[in-house]
Amino acid sequence: MIYFDNAATSYPKPPEVFEQMVKFMQELGGNPGRSGHRMATGAEAMVTEARNAVSKFFGLKDPARCVFTLNCTDALNMSIKGVLKKGDHIVTTELEHNSINRPLQQMADDGFITLTRVKPATQGEWNVEEIINAVTGKTRLVALTHCSNVLGVINPVADLGRALREVSDTCLLLVDAAQSAGVVPLDMEAANIDLLAFPGHKALFAPTGTGALLIGPHVKDNELHAWREGGTGGDSTSPHQPPELPHHLEGGTPNTMGISGMLAGVRYIAKQGGPEKILQHERTIIARLIEALGSDKRFTLYGTRELNRKAGALSITIKDRDNPDVASILDQAFSICARPGLHCAPYTHKHLGTFPNGTLRLSPGHFSTLEEADQVIKALQEIAS
Ligand SMILES: Cc1ncc(COP(=O)(O)O)c(C=O)c1O
Repeated sequence: MIYFDNAATSYPKPPEVFEQMVKFMQELGGNPGRSGHRMATGAEAMVTEARNAVSKFFGLKDPARCVFTLNCTDALNMSIKGVLKKGDHIVTTELEHNSINRPLQQMADDGFITLTRVKPATQGEWNVEEIINAVTGKTRLVALTHCSNVLGVINPVADLGRALREVSDTCLLLVDAAQSAGVVPLDMEAANIDLLAFPGHKALFAPTGTGALLIGPHVKDNELHAWREGGTGGDSTSPHQPPELPHHLEGGTPNTMGISGMLAGVRYIAKQGGPEKILQHERTIIARLIEALGSDKRFTLYGTRELNRKAGALSITIKDRDNPDVASILDQAFSICARPGLHCAPYTHKHLGTFPNGTLRLSPGHFSTLEEADQVIKALQEIAS
């Protein structure tokens, strides 16, 4: 089997990840912060270790501001619903996943916020100037994805962060790092990112059901309201959610087993030489795909071909072939996993002119090889002819 669907979730996970998870379940399966016995305090110590490691990995100085979430969607909703107040204006782009599109659209439809959706420059690059020009005195949030999940285009987040800080001191920058966390080096404080949302289950190699929201120093303690309230294991005398981070946003028992996997994933990436090494490898595979398919008139490739702007995702279509059929044939006849359709990013496909049929997305990962890329190319050429 060849797995080229790492943009959906990474597969396989490194053995270090599942070994750590099994060890945690066997030895420390208590509920963190909920009791004083050794199993609970052991679990709490692991969660603290993971908070420290994840914060350091993304350049967040205060680990108390690392909030574990269920996935990236959870972290994005937590930010959007936690920050916005009636009458606020939000700037976003046409490159977003529905985990940004939908909460914002619903709030706009309810008359709660106003929304500006900025077009990308060409095929997936941000138009930083237009994003900044869309910011007004009422803009509370700029919410956008660092790397398009359809096109794999990496955008200049530090340039945007700097420019935004120059024009507004009150507008927060929320970055969806679903496709970049673990594979593109990110120092959130240096890049002026206020809210960094990402899943654990993609390039951080953790299992599904994991994610985090990192809250930068520019966000005031009372600026982010809990949108999920409940038990935190702390002071139960209060009728309200405790105001301190991370507990303010972490109501309910966390996915401790998954968090132990995220800790192992972050350590694994460091052992490989860091995200840049992983990115380099993914780029060699993407380069092979672009070289073979980009020179063949039967294929259309979307997004920039500039390798230094690309992470490991490439969208294509094949002349006179339906994407779902191609994906089924790849799966059934060639044992190749790839994803057809809109990839939960309808505005991106409208921008590309591929709505509603979408594209076929090939997303190799850390464990993919050039030999696998050659087999994928051969299979696609056979299907095309
Ligand atoms: C760009 C982007 N944002 C957000 C998400 C949502 O991630 P999750 O499914 O972990 O909530 C995805 C998932 O594919 C994504 O690609």
